[in-house]
Amino acid sequence: MTSQEIRESYKQFFHSKGHQIVPSAPMVIKGDPTLMFTNAGMNQFKDIILGNAEIKYPRVTDSQKCLRVSGKHNDLEEVGHDTYHHTMFEMLGNWSFGDYFKHEAIDWAWEYLTEVLKLPKDRLYVTVFEGAPDEGLERDDEAAGFWEKHLPAERIINGNKHDNFWEMGDQGPCGPCSEIHVDIRPDEERAQVDGLSLVNQGHPQVIEIWNLVFMQYNRKADGSLEPLPKRVIDTGMGFERLCMAIQGKTSNYDTDIFTPMIQAIATLTGIEYGAAKKSDVAMRVIADHIRTIAFAITDGQLPSNAKAGYVIRRILRRAVRYGYTFLGRREAFMYSLLPVLIQTMGEAYPELVAGRELIEKVMREEEESFLHTLETGIRLLDKQIEECQRQGQQVLDGQAAFVLYDTYGFPLDLTALILSEQGMTVDEAGFDAAMQQQKERARNAAAIDAGDWISVHDEAAVRFVGYDQLETTTEILRYRQVKQKGQEYYQVVLSETPFYAEMGGQVGDRGVLIASDGTRYAIFDTKRENNLAIHLMKQLPAELAGSFRAVVDAEHRHRIEANHSATHLLHEALREVLGAHVEQKGSFVSDEVLRFDFAHFAKVEPEQLRAVERLVAERIRACLPLQEYREVPIEEARQMGAMALFGEKYGDHVRVIRFGSSTEFCGGTHVASTGVIGTVRITSESSVAAGVRRIEAVTGAAAEDYLYAQEDLLQSIRGLFNNSPQLMTAIQKMFEENSELARQVGDYVKQQLLEVKRRLLEKRHEVNGIRLFLLRQDVPTEIIKDLAFQIAGELSEPFVFIGAQEDKTSGKPNLTLMLSKDLVESRGWNAAQLLRAAAKHIQGGGGGQPHFATAGGKNSDGLNAAVDQLLADLGLQA
Ligand code: ALA
Repeated sequence: MTSQEIRESYKQFFHSKGHQIVPSAPMVIKGDPTLMFTNAGMNQFKDIILGNAEIKYPRVTDSQKCLRVSGKHNDLEEVGHDTYHHTMFEMLGNWSFGDYFKHEAIDWAWEYLTEVLKLPKDRLYVTVFEGAPDEGLERDDEAAGFWEKHLPAERIINGNKHDNFWEMGDQGPCGPCSEIHVDIRPDEERAQVDGLSLVNQGHPQVIEIWNLVFMQYNRKADGSLEPLPKRVIDTGMGFERLCMAIQGKTSNYDTDIFTPMIQAIATLTGIEYGAAKKSDVAMRVIADHIRTIAFAITDGQLPSNAKAGYVIRRILRRAVRYGYTFLGRREAFMYSLLPVLIQTMGEAYPELVAGRELIEKVMREEEESFLHTLETGIRLLDKQIEECQRQGQQVLDGQAAFVLYDTYGFPLDLTALILSEQGMTVDEAGFDAAMQQQKERARNAAAIDAGDWISVHDEAAVRFVGYDQLETTTEILRYRQVKQKGQEYYQVVLSETPFYAEMGGQVGDRGVLIASDGTRYAIFDTKRENNLAIHLMKQLPAELAGSFRAVVDAEHRHRIEANHSATHLLHEALREVLGAHVEQKGSFVSDEVLRFDFAHFAKVEPEQLRAVERLVAERIRACLPLQEYREVPIEEARQMGAMALFGEKYGDHVRVIRFGSSTEFCGGTHVASTGVIGTVRITSESSVAAGVRRIEAVTGAAAEDYLYAQEDLLQSIRGLFNNSPQLMTAIQKMFEENSELARQVGDYVKQQLLEVKRRLLEKRHEVNGIRLFLLRQDVPTEIIKDLAFQIAGELSEPFVFIGAQEDKTSGKPNLTLMLSKDLVESRGWNAAQLLRAAAKHIQGGGGGQPHFATAGGKNSDGLNAAVDQLLADLGLQA
């Protein structure tokens, strides 16, 4: 079976068992502070599992794009070195939300593997949870009992909390699990060593393929377990490993998922896969990482310098670095392999096809800029090696190696490799210590210290009424105290709220909570967590149990709405002016500004921006009414012409916002009519990443302020020109007059120079056969150098030129010394040295060449002494 067929057969099998087939959620997660990337198939169902969202289908199955490169599940360092770990992988899963439980999950898993895929039964092993007395958890005898129907008891192995109690992260849904392992070793080997002894021992051919999790708990922030509202089945099977087992291979990279890519890399580099251990690792790293990078970009996570973007950047750099060191790649190359990836995965994941141009651009630019950094780092390392060698050191300091790692992306092994070529080593302990220190700094900076929720009223479904009203009567359901970056505040959940919680780029509402006695408590922001509005307050009401009026700051909200609706109009107008390739890549909408990032490959010209503004202005004047459609099934929304966004989850119902022909999926709040926006002004246009532009704009009163500021500026300039009605002509005239004056000054200075020179040359002052020019009079500093060089050009006899002046504008002393070339040669005099010594008298320093030097200082009173010293040193006292 091909990988495509295996993926399809899994979904069809569970479909036949009453499961709804749903699409993969995006790999990049926005809006969950506990997770950056999807790390398991169950992530997209987290709200359902915790009882915060409604169960639409009790049985679901899918193939989910997952990424395990941060947090609790992180496989990054293994990838490439072994043959069965990946950064991005696909997880086949089936779920029951309060429907079937262990019995069916176990029976169907066995049926699918042994009857549909026909994996030999005697090659399979299973593990069950042995229990954990410290948490009051018992051995999972129940699961073991169901397994005994299918395989002998000795192939059912007990596993500890680490292997057999699955948790999504430090917090969240969890439960005991049962894993299925497969032994794909050849028969001879199996006869010699029993597979049983190799389960969970890191053997590359005795590996876990499927994990059946029996979700029963939620791990809370304080580490304790609370039961879930409903029991849940959550299974995850590693698709790449399954394909390896079915296709009779011993490495994931030998399946048809990876062979085309490995082959393409081999062709590109002229190095065969299998030729050497190091180049094999590099090829696997690249074949793996290119998937991660491509999917991250198309799912909306561009490489960047912070958080999730930085994780992606590091993965890309890891691949470039392996290519550089072990495959001799000195130029960007990964982007050119993208067509191969699209060929293997584009059919199952159409977002890859749609995002191709952007992925290619971003990858290439990132690769090029990192290669540049890499070269800079190598030069830096070379310098350090030289320095060490000069000092007779054989070991590079750990801190230096860490800077290379942190700033230039040099993993320690690369530094060690380059050092070893020079017979040197690196202080690894010092490196580890520096790394540890940095980790601690990062932890302290990011730490959010949240207490446990304290319940005030019984939990109930929270209602958001903020699309229709700005105030309501409500109760406090629960709250907790949070410390973050030295700040303390409370997070509060209300039973009903008009406050919009930050999402989709729109900032959260602020306002007040008014107690029944009229006391007002400020809500300074509203955030979202697991789709729940969290109100942030510095101070809690004295009496928590009563009822409150929750009132949104209307002025603040209305400004935000004007900016949000303007963003939609701008989006549409940009597409009309620049083309349909313009696609939203990000947005930020506050009460002050709006920022909109979109795919476009060139600078947007001023005339284009103006055309966009004009279109938007037209639509504002038309007072287009808001048309809002709530709870539209996603397919219907697409038919309404709402832009197809990848990234919505299965079964999603979306909100559609229309103003005239602008139709968007949007959960934000908007003006009732575009007329309310008043005016839109684009204040800047810039680049944020390869192929992504950003515009910033203001609306309404802020746009007026912006225009008034421009007008005021113009008015002030006009004032400078006596309110001339012909401002441009007046400015033009000033420029002309100015250059005429500059020309006149230049002429005057030249004449002055000639005059001074004439006088100097006229007076013949000679000491010991050397002509001496001593210029103490007030000559602009700028012309002294010219003067000295002109004299040098005209004289053939030996001479010394000394200038000593105070600069009229700065009031600072200057010294100039020129020696004729023959004096430098015959006497070995050095103007720079002589002048440096003399400059002490003016509290200054200077430098230059042997025949010409200048010095500046602070103390003009010392000029005479400086000149005297020069004359003395040169033996030229009269
Ligand atoms: N959530 C389980 C896992 O990721 C199935 O292994």
